[in-house]
Amino acid sequence: MSEDAKIRIRDLYKIFGEDPQTALEAVKGGMGKPELLRETNHVLGLCDINVDIKDGLTTVIMGLSGSGKSTLIRHLNRLIEPTAGQVLVDGEDILEYGPSQLRDLRRRRMSMVFQKFALLPHRTVLENAALALAVSGVERGDYEKEANKWLDRVGLEGNANLYPHQLSGGMQQRVGIARALVSNSEIMLMDEAFSALDPLIRTDMQDLLVELQGELQKTVVFITHDLDEALKLADHLVILNEGVVVQQGEPQHILLHPADPYIEDFVSDINRARAQGALGDDARRRSLGQGRRRRDRPGSDARGRDQHLRRRHLQELPGHQGRRSGRHAEDEGPRQGAGADQGLRQRHPHEDERVRGGGAFHR
Ligand SMILES: Nc1ncnc2c1ncn2[C@@H]1O[C@H](COP(=O)(O)OP(=O)(O)OP(=O)(O)O)[C@@H](O)[C@H]1O
Ligand SMILES: [Mg+2]
Repeated sequence: MSEDAKIRIRDLYKIFGEDPQTALEAVKGGMGKPELLRETNHVLGLCDINVDIKDGLTTVIMGLSGSGKSTLIRHLNRLIEPTAGQVLVDGEDILEYGPSQLRDLRRRRMSMVFQKFALLPHRTVLENAALALAVSGVERGDYEKEANKWLDRVGLEGNANLYPHQLSGGMQQRVGIARALVSNSEIMLMDEAFSALDPLIRTDMQDLLVELQGELQKTVVFITHDLDEALKLADHLVILNEGVVVQQGEPQHILLHPADPYIEDFVSDINRARAQGALGDDARRRSLGQGRRRRDRPGSDARGRDQHLRRRHLQELPGHQGRRSGRHAEDEGPRQGAGADQGLRQRHPHEDERVRGGGAFHR
């Protein structure tokens, strides 16, 4: 067990259905997700998850639609209760928390950014950004100052008095990020936070997150379907399939040594030899998110170089280039909704089953 884990997930199971404990026995006896659904009408959400979320780094959780990503992240602040297992935050088992400790966990220690950030429509950008501090009793002058600081930092200077409907999707998402930053929580949970954005705006937001992480070193848990996004952001990559962690580790390692056909499938267009050979160790380490702690302060040349390397690395991978050019074609065309959310979601082999599974129990 690593020393610097901020969050430890231990032997975690989640089964949806009327009698999860009985179903759990079947799962522990080796029954997989499709069989469990067929035989018992229970949905295996998560199966025996063990992950360390490292302090100050970005952990990316990736997998097909229905693989359990949202279910997993929602266990971290107990929006979902597990069927079995433990979640330790700063060494404390949050399943033992009472209501006030849980409130404190959700308000102060963790913040959450969703795909569609639920901004309050009748509050200004500033009020939305300042929400966490305002409800925790901070003086108006102080929380406004803090909110303005972070709105400026995410590129929303001059927009503080607008209302959410006056902002573009990308701007709204920036408010979501500012809101998480204003709350000053050490942990940020981001569930497909950029997936609904246009490709170019999405890239900007990824750059912004990388930049902020260079300064702030939050513990970030980031969910995505997109391999490019995962590679750009992840220090630690966790791949889920049907509720099971099929591989986790350094992104570079996973690219070069996919553990099973499921992972091979979506890294197959990456030229491994080139990934291994084209870059020196240092560039590879930087480009895939290691060594961020050593990054210089904002505005320095070193930081800019670091980001450039990171981007260049991705562009140098032939598979990535293919994806990029596909994206640019989209960029130039009409808006295509979540067009950037390509690949994994489209290739989900169990879509029908997911619909049936989701329908079997009330979501
Ligand atoms: N409340 C619920 N009741 C029953 N089944 C559920 C419930 N919530 C999730 N599930 C099932 O658990 C599995 C994992 O769902 P989850 O939402 O975590 O997937 P995901 O990886 O986040 O997918 P997506 O990429 O589409 O957001 C799915 O099979 C889903 O149908
Ligand atoms: Mg989800």
